[in-house]
Amino acid sequence: MPERAFVGDRAAAVLLQGVRKTYVVRERLGLLRGTKRREIPALRGVDLRIERGEFLALLGRNGAGKTTLLKIVATLLLPSAGEVWVEGYEAVRVPKEVRKKIGVVLAGERTLYWKLTGLENLLLFGGLYNLPRKEARRRAWELLSLVGLQEFAHVSVEKYSTGMRKRLSLARALIHRPSLLILDEPTAGLDPQGTAELWEILRDLRAEQRLTVLMATHNMLEAEALPDRLVILEEGRIVAAGTPQAIKEHAGAQALAVLRLSGRGTPELFGLKVRVFPEDKRSLVTVPVPLLPQILAKAQAQGLRIENVQVKESSLWDAFLRLTGRPFDDLEAPSLGGEEE
Ligand SMILES: Nc1ncnc2c1ncn2[C@@H]1O[C@H](COP(=O)(O)OP(=O)(O)OP(=O)(O)O)[C@@H](O)[C@H]1O
Ligand SMILES: [Mg+2]
Repeated sequence: MPERAFVGDRAAAVLLQGVRKTYVVRERLGLLRGTKRREIPALRGVDLRIERGEFLALLGRNGAGKTTLLKIVATLLLPSAGEVWVEGYEAVRVPKEVRKKIGVVLAGERTLYWKLTGLENLLLFGGLYNLPRKEARRRAWELLSLVGLQEFAHVSVEKYSTGMRKRLSLARALIHRPSLLILDEPTAGLDPQGTAELWEILRDLRAEQRLTVLMATHNMLEAEALPDRLVILEEGRIVAAGTPQAIKEHAGAQALAVLRLSGRGTPELFGLKVRVFPEDKRSLVTVPVPLLPQILAKAQAQGLRIENVQVKESSLWDAFLRLTGRPFDDLEAPSLGGEEE
C-alpha cells in the first residue's frame, strides 16, 4: 500500500483491507463492585473492493457488523485496524476528502429538522456543504422532483409520513452530488408501496447519476431486486460474496418440498425430521425436491396418506439462513404451524 493518502482517480470506489473494529465497553458489576472492561469484536478482518458504479448490498443478521462497516466507510467511526480507501483517499488520514465524495443515510437517525419544510432542509444542508445559494436551490428542486416531493416542498417535515421522510433523507444525502451513496436499511419500516417507490427512485438515481451504492439490508426481496453483488457478513467476517444466483449456488440452497401426511406410523420416514401434530394425526416433512419420488413411494408403501405437497423454490432466504448458521427447519416451523390452524 502506498505511503500517500491519495492514490489516484482511477482507484476503486471502496477498498477495505483487513478492517477490524472492536468496541470496548465498561460493564457494571453491581453496586460498589465497580466496572469491568469488555471487548466486543464487531468486525474481524474484512477485505472488500467495490468498483465505481457498482451497487453492493451487505446482508447479515442483527449484530453481524453491517452498520459498523458502513460507519467506518462513512468516516463516522475509526477502524481498530486495517485500511479504508474511498475513491483513492485514505479515510483515516483524509476524512474530509472522503466526506465530499459520500452521501450517507443511516437507519433510525434523525438528520432532518422537523420544524423546517422539505425545501428548507435541503437548502440548509446545501449551505453546510458550501454550495452557492443559487446552485443549492437548483439542486434542491431537482432532488425534490427525483424523490417525488415537489408538491410537499413547502410543508414542514413533521407533517411528512415515514416514507416521505425517508425520501427526503435520501435527497438530503445527495445535495452535494456525492459519487458514493451509503444506505443503512433504506426501506425498514416502509409499507410495500413505500418500498416499491424507494426502489424505483434508487434505480433511477443509479442510472442517471452513475452512483456507487453501498447498502445494508435485511430485506431479501430488496437484496435480490437492486444490487449487482451481495456480501454476507456473519459475526464480523465475510462468509460469501457474489451475485444473488452465485450466493444461492454457493450455499447449496435447493428447492424443498413440504409433504403433509396422515396415517399410522408417520414419524418414521427415512430418519427425516418429521413434525407431528398428534391432535389430528397429521405430520409434515420437508424434503429436497430430487428425493421426492422415493419419499412418496416409501410413504405410500407404509400406508401413509399424502394430503398435500408444497414445493418451495430455492430462495435467497434459504441460502442466507444456511450461510449464517441456522437450519431452515427452525424458520419453517412458524409458517407451517400457522397453516395448520
Ligand atoms: N457503540 C457500540 N458500542 C458497543 N458495541 C457496539 C456498538 N455498536 C455496535 N456494537 C456491537 O457490535 C456488533 C455489530 O453491531 P452492528 O450495529 O454493526 O451490527 P448490524 O449488522 O448493523 O446489526 P443490525 O442488523 O441489528 O442493525 C454487535 O455485537 C453490537 O452489539
Ligand atoms: Mg445495523
